[in-house]
Amino acid sequence: MCARDFDPAMGKLAVMHAVTLATPDDFDDWRDAARTLAMAGVAPGEVDWRVGGEPGDLFADVGAPLPAAGGAAFNVPKGFISLAQSVICHSDPERFALLYALLCRLRGEPKALDDSADPRMRRLEGMAKEVRRDIHKMRAFVRFREVADADGAARFVAWFEPDHHIVRTNAGFFVRRFAGMRWSILTPELSIHWDGETLSESPGASRADAPEGDPVEEIWKTYYSSIFNPARLKIGAMLKEMPKKYWKNMPETALVAPLIAGAREREVAMVAASARQLDRIEREGLARAEAAEATMQPGGNTLAAWEKLLEEAKGCTRCPLYKPATQMVFGEGPLDATIMFVGEQPGDQEDLAGRPFVGPAGQLFDRAMAEAGVDRARTYVTNAVKHFKFEPRGKRRIHSKPDAGEIEACRWWLAQERALVGPPLTVALGATAARSLFGKTITISRVRGEPMVLPDDGGEAWVTVHPSFLLRLPNEEAKRKEYARFVQDLARIGERAKALS
Ligand code: URA
Repeated sequence: MCARDFDPAMGKLAVMHAVTLATPDDFDDWRDAARTLAMAGVAPGEVDWRVGGEPGDLFADVGAPLPAAGGAAFNVPKGFISLAQSVICHSDPERFALLYALLCRLRGEPKALDDSADPRMRRLEGMAKEVRRDIHKMRAFVRFREVADADGAARFVAWFEPDHHIVRTNAGFFVRRFAGMRWSILTPELSIHWDGETLSESPGASRADAPEGDPVEEIWKTYYSSIFNPARLKIGAMLKEMPKKYWKNMPETALVAPLIAGAREREVAMVAASARQLDRIEREGLARAEAAEATMQPGGNTLAAWEKLLEEAKGCTRCPLYKPATQMVFGEGPLDATIMFVGEQPGDQEDLAGRPFVGPAGQLFDRAMAEAGVDRARTYVTNAVKHFKFEPRGKRRIHSKPDAGEIEACRWWLAQERALVGPPLTVALGATAARSLFGKTITISRVRGEPMVLPDDGGEAWVTVHPSFLLRLPNEEAKRKEYARFVQDLARIGERAKALS
């Protein structure tokens, strides 16, 4: 059966095609239906998109079935796929129709994706950004409580209320991060469960289904913020080893209460600090991204090519480092930057945030850049190795240096970034970056402060220390001296970049 609407523009009755998606974040079904409809030439206004189980209107069950796919197959830019995958998770009921309208436009106008003056593009990009923020918030703010499963084993349960349909998309992150534990995340729309081997889903829950506060909450808070509190963990172990019923017979137990109180105070301060830290990363990131966007010259197809490269890099398996890492961390900054800074590899915070140089080394770098008068937002910042390499130690992840094979495997991405951005000046921050850029071991003290020629393309490069070298220096005097030298290097690099551009 077909539902018919009068289309005043066409002066005829328009056929409404109904598409019912299985779930609110059902990208695969949306893509299949959208492809079929677009190939059959169905106009955006002739499709009624809905999600199964949602209350419908009078047309819900009477829309025309999908037409048989006809017409020529067509390709869409990769950037559209990643945009659509994000936007599908948004809670705006118009998301399916907006994406379909963009898809139809892209058929005849493949560059439409770069048209950021178009209000629809802006709206879709805004939606994708909101979804990314929601994903990030869930990663950072989920809080687990410990309960016992029917078999007595520990299960960690969290309650979370996302703004968008991001739970399924985020499940992989929690599986990777907490692979060895049993956990459940309950949300109003959907609950997900991990038993150490299999991920399963159940319907939404209510806050009352989640356990109330438990000391483990505080541990998780600090864990998520990448802050480790050994005192706190020792107390946990101590309490475990020392059941309460024995306390009154043991003089040293008098120390337990003040110890816990002290640890709690410290934790409250740490949690507040970590929340500020996450906020800062997010705020600075957005400001930097906006500044980069404002200055980015999408001229030609550089932007589209960079986005394609980024999408490919997200699936990189060129070396095993992708397995334990949370995500690939790509370079960022204007694509017409005159300076490209190359670091070593993302650290713990970069791995969580998905952005380079946002942790302690990044903050030091920002400060030094500001003192040197070089605007970081006008530079492109990336790493020689795009995944965080670490050794798990208890709840901490300890940075581990990438080896020659890992640097070599990742050189390809850096070469692609350099080819796209084409910076007049490239700066290696530290030995790993220098090795990647020059293809061999470089002694920083021998080449520091002088222009060098890159073997691959003859471009100009400078080598200086990595900011984390400054963080590791043992005394304040050395720190001050080396920091001043680093600022001096950056200032010279900034001057040189001006001369070259
Ligand atoms: N160190 C690096 O080399 N890169 C980062 O992104 C962060 C710390």
